[in-house]
Amino acid sequence: MNDETINSLKEALKLSPTNSPLRLLLAETFLNLNKLEEAEIEYSTLIEKTNDTKAKIGLAKVFFKKGSYSACNVILEEVIDNGLIDIQVYTLYSKGLLKENSTQKAIEVYQKAIGLDPNYFDEELDSQLRQKGNQENILLEEDELDYRFLQKPNINFNDVGGMESVKKEIDLKIIKPLLHPELYKAYGKKIGGGILLYGPPGCGKTFIAKATAGQVNAKFITISLNDILDMWIGNSEKNLHELFELARENTPCVLFIDEIDALGASRSDMKQSSGRHLINQFLQELDGVNSSNEGILIIGATNTPWNLDPAFRRPGRFDRIVFVPPPDATSRESILRLKLNNKPTGMIDLQSIAKKTENYSGADIDAIIDISIEQKLESSFSDGIPKPLETNDLIAAIKKHKPSTQEWFASAKNFAMFANDSGLYDEILTYLKIKK
Ligand SMILES: Nc1ncnc2c1ncn2[C@@H]1O[C@H](COP(=O)(O)OP(=O)(O)OP(=O)(O)O)[C@@H](O)[C@H]1O
Ligand SMILES: [Mg+2]
Repeated sequence: MNDETINSLKEALKLSPTNSPLRLLLAETFLNLNKLEEAEIEYSTLIEKTNDTKAKIGLAKVFFKKGSYSACNVILEEVIDNGLIDIQVYTLYSKGLLKENSTQKAIEVYQKAIGLDPNYFDEELDSQLRQKGNQENILLEEDELDYRFLQKPNINFNDVGGMESVKKEIDLKIIKPLLHPELYKAYGKKIGGGILLYGPPGCGKTFIAKATAGQVNAKFITISLNDILDMWIGNSEKNLHELFELARENTPCVLFIDEIDALGASRSDMKQSSGRHLINQFLQELDGVNSSNEGILIIGATNTPWNLDPAFRRPGRFDRIVFVPPPDATSRESILRLKLNNKPTGMIDLQSIAKKTENYSGADIDAIIDISIEQKLESSFSDGIPKPLETNDLIAAIKKHKPSTQEWFASAKNFAMFANDSGLYDEILTYLKIKK
């Protein structure tokens, strides 16, 4: 983009002054070249003529760059009120609001962006919001919590390949008690406590927790403890309490607590005492000290169970700890079948692919399918005909993607051999064939 581009765009516009897409392109080019006055004129002309939303967003960007934040915000508020849902627009609006010191509103708008895509993250905005939010001591509002944390998963155990023993544990330990509490009571068997899943990354811990919710038609709340610790709004204990309360108000639900080791790990940026505080708060919530956890299925997950405070494993807390290994050949076959189900496929020798993917995690299998589809797409561009996936495509993809579980086992093995708390990690040794 340079002056030459601008000149030819201008020439073309002279010939067809009503060509809006062309004017939009010119305006955008001005904006990108930081020629703000010119950009403003073109965008304004467009808005006058066509009331175009893209032009409005462009004009808002111009105003933002010029430091006219309130003008920028007025436009964005209008387009959003008119129903526009767009992560980038929310982000710009949040930035504009922050510039005008409307921190609370800026946070709400940023949370809307995150609500659209939980993986979305704007580093600069995020850290500014944390800082200002903390200064002004703004706390999470209940309905914002709902928005951000409450899900209704549409997968169930049928979508999970293999993991038979994990499914069984979950069924016995938390699903059955939820469905038949009176039977448990009749036998005087205590209900409560959760399951802690541990194992290498990408092997389905999060996935099966979500599927558990779908399995019993319950809601799903996921908290990552690093989020709680880092959450830019208010203090950790209160946030944690509110999330447990959210679960209690939304039973039946699965409360999934990810990265649970974050609590046990020593955090350099956290004072020892406040860390202890949060752990105690967490244990109280788990125990349901002040309010009942009936109807809440608690599942925790970690890659490093050995960092966890043993207090977490007491009866009534995470008293079942379950190893989630990489899928065996049969499981890999069923994961492949599940994932290829809605893709255009020819003859695929699932069994041989499963054989060739020893040590691959479920996430690795996802990646392999992704890679082979990309390759297929590329070769379809030349003639425009979509071709089905074949065994060879997958084999080629396997060569490009190495299994990701080995690194975990390298360190896990040491803990299992030398810090094996009364046989807690025997399953790792059995998996590695070090112990029968
Ligand atoms: N048994 C399985 N059946 C079907 N899909 C699976 C299975 N295991 C993993 N996957 C796929 O791999 C992806 C990653 O799995 P998931 O996020 O559950 O791993 P994880 O064990 O939670 O990893 P991490 O320790 O990194 O959090 C899932 O979204 C899912 O698509
Ligand atoms: Mg996970």
